[in-house]
Amino acid sequence: METAVIERSACADSVLLNDWHVVADLSALNSERPFETRLLGTDLLIHGAGDRVRIERKCDSGPVQISKKYGFLWACLGDPDRDILHIPEAFETDRFIVTGGSIAVGVSGLRAVENFLDMGHFPFVHTGWLGEEPHTEVPSYKVEITDQDEVLATQCRFFQPVASPTASGGIMANYEYKVSRPYTVALYKTNPVHPDRMDYIALFVQPVDEEHCIAHPLLCYLKDNTNEAELRWFMQLIFAQDKPILENQLPKRLPLDPRAETPIRADASSVFYRRWLRHHNITYGAITAPQ
Ligand SMILES: [Fe+2]
Repeated sequence: METAVIERSACADSVLLNDWHVVADLSALNSERPFETRLLGTDLLIHGAGDRVRIERKCDSGPVQISKKYGFLWACLGDPDRDILHIPEAFETDRFIVTGGSIAVGVSGLRAVENFLDMGHFPFVHTGWLGEEPHTEVPSYKVEITDQDEVLATQCRFFQPVASPTASGGIMANYEYKVSRPYTVALYKTNPVHPDRMDYIALFVQPVDEEHCIAHPLLCYLKDNTNEAELRWFMQLIFAQDKPILENQLPKRLPLDPRAETPIRADASSVFYRRWLRHHNITYGAITAPQ
């Protein structure tokens, strides 16, 4: 008897295969024609829209598990061993919950996460918005691994000319960053109107393959003084500035060899992130250290 061998995925990391990943903004789907995308090297066809959505693998028409949350369609190629990340801010009624437009980037998704954690590039890449010269120094901040096994950076501060769509002048913006999953990162940022509360941006990075990703931002912003269109515009402006910088990074995969680290103070969150990826045996999208 002949046995068909189906290569289900080019990815061998069970942590990634058995987790949920965003594969589409629900607003991008329509029932007229299938939406094609790729996850962890596996080509997918998304059929339908609204309540009638299903995903199949393109190679063998096999079904893929799906879920919907936060305005996104999620897929798991294996058997999910945990739920989609819970985001309390997404359930607060005084916030706009906005999907920020999906952006395809020709680089490993791990690099996109690392770039999101990096404040040092603000004055040079987001000049006049998230930073400007001569305010180039990243003041020291705290990084730790939490009891929930997340990378958490706190006490981050940076001078920003236009920190958000509602900003009316430069402020010292306060940030916190959290990496919850290998391809999921979030930031909490001072709200200019309510200094005691934080706006929230999650970045769900879809690993298309090892050297391509799609960044799906989710914004949970306090409603005062802004609107959804303005939020989406601001996020797309910032991401359009990041995309060419990310695509010029070489190598395209993220080096995890400890000897590739440059332990300067501003890179503390990056050093923790790479170590945490090594600890979890993540190889997909990475260049691992020789054994
Ligand atoms: Fe950036």
